[in-house]
Parts: sequence; structure tokens; C-alpha cells
Amino acid sequence: MFEHRQYRWPQPLKGSRPRIWYGGDYNPDQWPEEVWSEDVRLMGEAGVNIVSLGIFSWDRIEPREGEFDFGWLDKVIGMLGRAGIAVDLASATASPPLWLTQKHPEVLLRDQEGHTVWPGARQHWRPTSPVFRDYALKLCRALAEHYKGNPYVVAWHVGNEYGCHNRFDYSDDAMHAFQEWCRQRYGTPQAVNEAWGAAFWSQEITDFSQIIPPRYVGVQGSFTNPSKMLDFKRFCSDALKAFYSAERDELSRITPDIPLTTNFMVSVNSSVLDYDDWGDEVDFVSNDHYFLPGEAHLDEMAYSASLVDGIARKRPWFLMENSTSAVNWRPINYRKEPGQLIRDAMVHLGMGADAICFFQWRQSRAGAEKFHSAMLPHSGENSQVFRDVCELGDDLNKLADAGILETRLKKSEVAIVFDYESEWATENLATPTQQVCHATEPLDWFRAFADHGVTADMVPIRGPWDEYDTVVLPSVYLLSEKNSQRLREYVKGGGKVIVTCYSGISDEHDHIWLGGYPGSIGDVVGVRSEEFVPMGDDDGTLDHLELTNGTVARDIADHITDVAPSAKVLASYKAGEYTGLDGVPAITLNGFGSGLAAYVGCRLGREGLSQTLPELLGQMNVPYVKGQDTGSILRVERGATQDGKDTCFVFYFNRDSKPAAAAISGVPVVTSHASVDAGRKNALLEPNGVVVTKE
Ligand code: GLA
Ligand code: GLA
Repeated sequence: MFEHRQYRWPQPLKGSRPRIWYGGDYNPDQWPEEVWSEDVRLMGEAGVNIVSLGIFSWDRIEPREGEFDFGWLDKVIGMLGRAGIAVDLASATASPPLWLTQKHPEVLLRDQEGHTVWPGARQHWRPTSPVFRDYALKLCRALAEHYKGNPYVVAWHVGNEYGCHNRFDYSDDAMHAFQEWCRQRYGTPQAVNEAWGAAFWSQEITDFSQIIPPRYVGVQGSFTNPSKMLDFKRFCSDALKAFYSAERDELSRITPDIPLTTNFMVSVNSSVLDYDDWGDEVDFVSNDHYFLPGEAHLDEMAYSASLVDGIARKRPWFLMENSTSAVNWRPINYRKEPGQLIRDAMVHLGMGADAICFFQWRQSRAGAEKFHSAMLPHSGENSQVFRDVCELGDDLNKLADAGILETRLKKSEVAIVFDYESEWATENLATPTQQVCHATEPLDWFRAFADHGVTADMVPIRGPWDEYDTVVLPSVYLLSEKNSQRLREYVKGGGKVIVTCYSGISDEHDHIWLGGYPGSIGDVVGVRSEEFVPMGDDDGTLDHLELTNGTVARDIADHITDVAPSAKVLASYKAGEYTGLDGVPAITLNGFGSGLAAYVGCRLGREGLSQTLPELLGQMNVPYVKGQDTGSILRVERGATQDGKDTCFVFYFNRDSKPAAAAISGVPVVTSHASVDAGRKNALLEPNGVVVTKE
């Protein structure tokens, strides 16, 4: 149904064994040549075996139109390659040179209010500009012709974080492409009108030329049509995908043997593109991930890495960027705490990455990212960061020697569904409450399961979630008829599902399912809610609801008025007499077909969910919840079965801010900020500590 490109992974240099790829973005063009040989020497010390090269080097590669200078790049690639360091070579199209934008200002992005986005930062080009595409493809051709057959180039790094700065373009180029996209999708103006509910506010079109991108519509409170906005987000993801695909096809036509990727930005609250859809278009999936500072650091990282593994459909994936310490782009750029550099890398590795890379190799002296950490910091090789980088290099080699590359992340019993389109739809400004969107809920569920020793799999909605024992639909706001039916079949056939409030509200056009919420799957969950009960902290408003199971709901609850005879109420609200909510069902469980469907009709947050899970899962005959005392250790397993023999690498991470003990099995391969007793049965992990064993 959905065709993935055939999976291909960058192969080791001739004469080298397969290793975990290890390295980072390398920007030698920002440094004098004398530095390059020192770079290569120190990369050797750190165990670096791959770098991403040339990502922002267009103006050095093509200093004047049509004049290519590969001399410096040949020299760097030769130096690296001879030292055993492979190259992930960029298509170099991420930031156009000034001669191009001077000659063709018509390639520059336009913002929602029609302002030109000028050169000065990066990625200021229109994804739909035919002029820009021409120049970019010329560059791809020149690079591919020049580097075909080069023994050191093992992968193409196409573009860079598409959409990071140019997701939304409102130019006339974008307008024409959007009109064409609508024509392809809907065929007739009438079908567009229906999809967009355009009878509302006189928005009907009689011709495709009347479609404009959702440009500025006036002051806050004017509200763009949400169905159109949803389609515009789909279009923007598709437009960038078309641009990427054109580059990819040009490169792979000339160098069919070199696998290609582009770096995604999968993390909580990052839904710039539909990365699951993009996952079909790469030879191998890669991701850039930057840690969330604070107490959710580890969990958010594991959650995001699990989602990347889901997008990669459990094939090996590449961590293209993460940071050794601070970034430069938050208001406060916290450094990493002792242990976190190695621990964080192990999280991605445990979750299925076969490559660990950083932005960037050498910390910049100048430019917007000079305060962004790197593998080799300003302070030089005599630094804790560099020592950690070297230690990590060692650890990765030990794991490769122990055979980790033959293993994959083991499938969990629990799938948590993630849906980019639900996230896009819930970002709208005219909703019951801005406090609730899709993206916030999956992480809470992932954390609540982790509190009970269960590491769930994050599974994209197009993915195989219906092959799991238990599935969570966390505020999956959009449910098409097809997905509703898929859920129905799953539960009918014996599946166990937990659906939460704000799921199944709208169809794929963001038209509400009528008859009470959740309209499209009311039969499955056996409840019907008539109204949302948003909660806030305005003076005198309802700000929380207590449940009979001791938990507290905030932000939103459903006013459930009907419960099917096949369903039972597991918890209800204890509310004031005049709220109309006292005794109203909050958590229910329905028998449907041979399966079970729980409904959690309010937002309980990680804590409330964690408190609710034992009783709820007990009622659902889910046996694998291991109890609250298992929550301080996150356990991740990578395994394989070969010739009837099972190999398993077990990763133990401390989720606490104090030391935590873990009962371990197998032989320790990596120990960082942790100690293992002589009998190898118990480990004591400091906060940010990790132990990896081989069973
Ligand atoms: C105003 C408008 C109506 C409607 C309401 C919604 O009063 O006149 O068309 O938008 O706001 O509150
Ligand atoms: C992104 C980009 C990199 C760099 C890092 C900094 O991931 O791809 O070029 O700017 O952010 O965190």
C-alpha cells in the first residue's frame, strides 16, 4: 500500500570492518588549511569514522555561476579517506550563494504577510521555485559527476533539515503549486469546496486560480479556514518532498551505488514535515535530535528515538546530529551534565540507531553557532567534552565488536500511535482549548508506561500498530473512515486499545464526526460525550476535576452522557453539585467483539496516567506491567536470533535524579557513571548513568 524505497545502508570503506558510524558535521571551509591535518589526527583519536561534509558550502563549491571549485573538497576528502574516515557528502544546496539570490531575487521565500525573507541566515529559498530548482539540480549533477567512483564517499546527505526555515512559503510560486496540488488531490473546484467546508464565510471557489495560500488574514482572531490550513501543511510537506526527490533522483541517476538520506527533525513538538511519509523516500532514515533540558530529558529522547525507529520500520537508522553539550538557539542554553553525552548516545543506539553523529566536529570561532557545543570544543583536546567523545568512540567500538550491529530494537507489547496530521490539525488557533494538542499526549503515555517498567514503541499511524497486543490512541484527533475501520477491526479481532479524549473528533478534512464525541468510533469505545469541558485558571473557572481513583484531570475533560450496556465505568468525577459533572464517567472499559476498548475521557498528565495504569491494565488483562518500583530504570533491548541462538543487548538507564539500582543479567559491555558488582548481578547507576550488557 505504501511503498518504501529499498533500504540501503552506507557501507564501510574498503578494507574496513562494519562499525557503528561515528562522527559529525565537518566544516573545514570555516578554517585555514593548517587546521585540517589536526582535525584528522584528533578524529583518529576519537574513533571518528564518518563526517558529513559540505552542507553549507555552496558558495565555496560554485563561487561564481557555473564555475566549480572541487580542489579544496578533493583535498579534504582525500585526507579523511586515507585516514579511514568515510564521507557523507552533502548535495550542498541548503544555503544558496549570494550571486544566485542577487541575480534571481525571485527565488527568495515570502512570509505570510508578503515580506521577502532575505539572505542573511540560511534556507531562504522557495521550495517551489523552478529557477532555484534548476540551480540546485545543476549543483547536484556537478557534484555527482565529480565524485562518482570516489572510494571515500559512502552516502549522500541531501539538503539539510528541509523545512526548518522554509516550511511555509506564501509566494506566487507557492500559490501556483498549491493550486496544482489541489487540482491533483480533488479534481474539481466543487470537491475542494466540500473538503474545505467552503460554504462557511463565502470561501467557495469556482476556479482553481482562486486558491491562495493562507496568507495574512488580519489581526489575531480572524482565523484561516482550518481544513484549508491542514491541506496547506500537507502541501508544504509534499512540496519540499518533491524538491528533495528531484535532488535525490539526479544524484542517484549518476551514482546509483551511493545510498541517500536527508536528516529529519523528529522530537516532541516538532511536526514540520510528515516524517513518516518522508520515511518512504530515503534509502535509510536519519534524524537530528536535540535534548529537551530538564527532568524529561531522558524520556523525551527515548520517546523521539522510538518514533524514529517506528518511522524506519525497525530498519537501522542514523542519528545524524545531536549535541555534545549546549545548543545556541534556546533563550537559555544549558550544558549537558556529566554523563549525559555518553548516556544520550546510548539512548539512540539502544532504540535502533546504528550511527551516532554530532553537530559539529569542531566548534566554530565565528558565526551564529559559535556558542553551540561540538566534539572538539573551543578549549581544545584537553577538555572533558573531548575526553567523553573519545570514551564514546571506544564504547561504540566495543559494542560493534560484541555484535550489536546484527541486532534490532525488540518489539514492545505496547504501541503508542503518533499522527502528524492530527498534530497539524490540533495546532489550529480555534479549538476548545489551546492547552491540548496531539503532540503533548503521546509523551505522557510513553512516560507513564516507563514508570511501570514498560518501554513502549512509538508507531506512526500508517505503521503496524494493529500488530501489537495493546495500543494507545492518545488524542488522535483526526480519524478517517479508513483508520476508524482499522481500529474497529483490530478490537473486534481481540485487540486491546486505550483511547483518550480528543481522539476521533474529525475526519481527514477536519470535519467533525457528528452524533457525539468520539463520533467515528463511539461504538468501539462505548461512550458518547456531548460537550468538552475545558479547564483553565481564569478567576472562578473550573481548573481541575478530581476522579474517584485519586487522580486529577486538568485542561480538558469530556462530558460523557451515555455509556453502552457492554461498558463499565472504572472511574468518575467527584465534582461540586452545580457543575453538572459529579458522578460523570471519566474512565470506562468496553467489550467490543473479542477485544477491549478503554476510554480515558480527560487529560490526566503523566502522573495521573501512571497512577491509573495498574488498575486499568489489570482490568484489561494486560500482564506485563511490572509495578511502580521498576520505574527508575528504563530498560531497552536490542536483540537478534541467528542459527537458533538468541543474542540480546540490554540497555539500563537511570531515570531518577538520584542513584538507582538495577538487577542486571549478561556481561557488561559499557558502563558509564555506574558500577557493577563483582557477581555481575547488580548495577548502581548514578543519575545520567548507563550500563549495557550482552546476554
Ligand atoms: C461574532 C460574529 C459571528 C461569530 C461570532 C462567534 O459575533 O458576528 O459571525 O463569528 O462572533 O462568537
Ligand atoms: C540543525 C542544523 C545544523 C545546526 C544545528 C544546531 O540541526 O541542521 O546545521 O544548525 O541545528 O543545533
